[in-house]
Amino acid sequence: MKKINVGIVGFGTVGTGTAKILIGNSLLIEERIGVPIVVKKIADHHPEKEREISVDPAILTKDANEILNDPEIDIVVELIGGYGYAKEFILKAIDKGKHVVTANKALLAVHGDEIFRAAYRKGVDIGFEASVGGGIPIIRALKEGLVANRIESIYGIVNGTTNYILTKMTAEGKKFGDVLKKAQEKGYAEADPTFDVEGVDAAHKLAVLISLAYGVRIRFEDIYTEGISKITPLDIEFAREFGYRIKLLAITKDDKGKIEARVHPTMLKESAMLANVDGVFNAIYVTGDAVGSTMFYGRGAGMMPTGSAVVSDIADIARNIIKKSHQRVPPLGCSEGCIKDAKVKDISETVNHYYIRFSAMDKPGVLSKISGILGENNISISSMIQKGRQVGGSVPIVMMTHEAKEQDVRKALDEIDRLPVVHEKTVFIRIEEGLT
Ligand code: HSE
Repeated sequence: MKKINVGIVGFGTVGTGTAKILIGNSLLIEERIGVPIVVKKIADHHPEKEREISVDPAILTKDANEILNDPEIDIVVELIGGYGYAKEFILKAIDKGKHVVTANKALLAVHGDEIFRAAYRKGVDIGFEASVGGGIPIIRALKEGLVANRIESIYGIVNGTTNYILTKMTAEGKKFGDVLKKAQEKGYAEADPTFDVEGVDAAHKLAVLISLAYGVRIRFEDIYTEGISKITPLDIEFAREFGYRIKLLAITKDDKGKIEARVHPTMLKESAMLANVDGVFNAIYVTGDAVGSTMFYGRGAGMMPTGSAVVSDIADIARNIIKKSHQRVPPLGCSEGCIKDAKVKDISETVNHYYIRFSAMDKPGVLSKISGILGENNISISSMIQKGRQVGGSVPIVMMTHEAKEQDVRKALDEIDRLPVVHEKTVFIRIEEGLT
């Protein structure tokens, strides 16, 4: 083996980072791997566009088939994104016996099973370190570093856009819409931010983490997904008064074989490590039965961090090729036969502490009505604040609960929201008390 050839499809931000690292650190990578890794071709719709790296124009093409049909290319890197051509390209590449690296969490979350099966059958490697947490090596940590552990839970801040928005809202007391607008102007949020702000991107990443943590196929629609667009400065301020911060968390827990799978705004004690992960940074807090709690922190997006993860997969596959091996570590870190369908616990069955904010009329007897309904539904209050005095008007009343079942909370709030003294839909946010 004299060298290993790589073909990259998609010369955008991550493609540029990948090429910059492979070319800029080529000697270092060659020393570590044992042979040179060469970028043989890059396909993109706009090869002529100016980028942060200039490459030999002879390696640029508009036609991804040139990569698929080049027998000298050992590893293809899919950086197009989306479900359409990206899927077709990956399946064709696998069929041709090429190893694949992808950063495409949306594709893996929805069509991962088909892609992983194809890779298992063909005996090729598929690397996807860049799909979760950008430059943080969490995929390899779950597959290899934590192989000894039964994974008990994962809590992740895995979307930089929403973490940036919540951090700004917390620091400056600004409204969601205003911070989002500023983030879009600065290029921190997409023109269409729906996937990020509504939690879909985080849920895609959670799907990937769950497959690895438990060796399961999970249907994407089984992941409960709630974004941050309804979070208000008022709730952030109340959270602060109770000693909490609000973060968008991707959460999975193993409850005796039933898996919790959910993305939603979550209150964390302000001393918790995850509560202090700010701005565009990501962090993933993993608890294993042997290791205990671990936390992985770093840049969850961007040209060079994500490029770093892509190159780590290329290097891993290159090492396999040199040793004439493949799938030494299988795609989901678990032999094909061991992968089962996930049994997902419905959100209504989960048990949480809750922050509940009512907008209710300020007059005698209102509080006892509300707490009466909570009590009838097995919900016990741990603390309460009423802010302001508005005789005949509406005031926010905030309650923190002890552990309660989500279905009881929803039932009680439905009932409370029908009371004539309650003026707006009651807001509730789940709390994770146990995180350090
Ligand atoms: N849009 C993602 C984020 C980055 O905001 O974290 C890519 O995964």
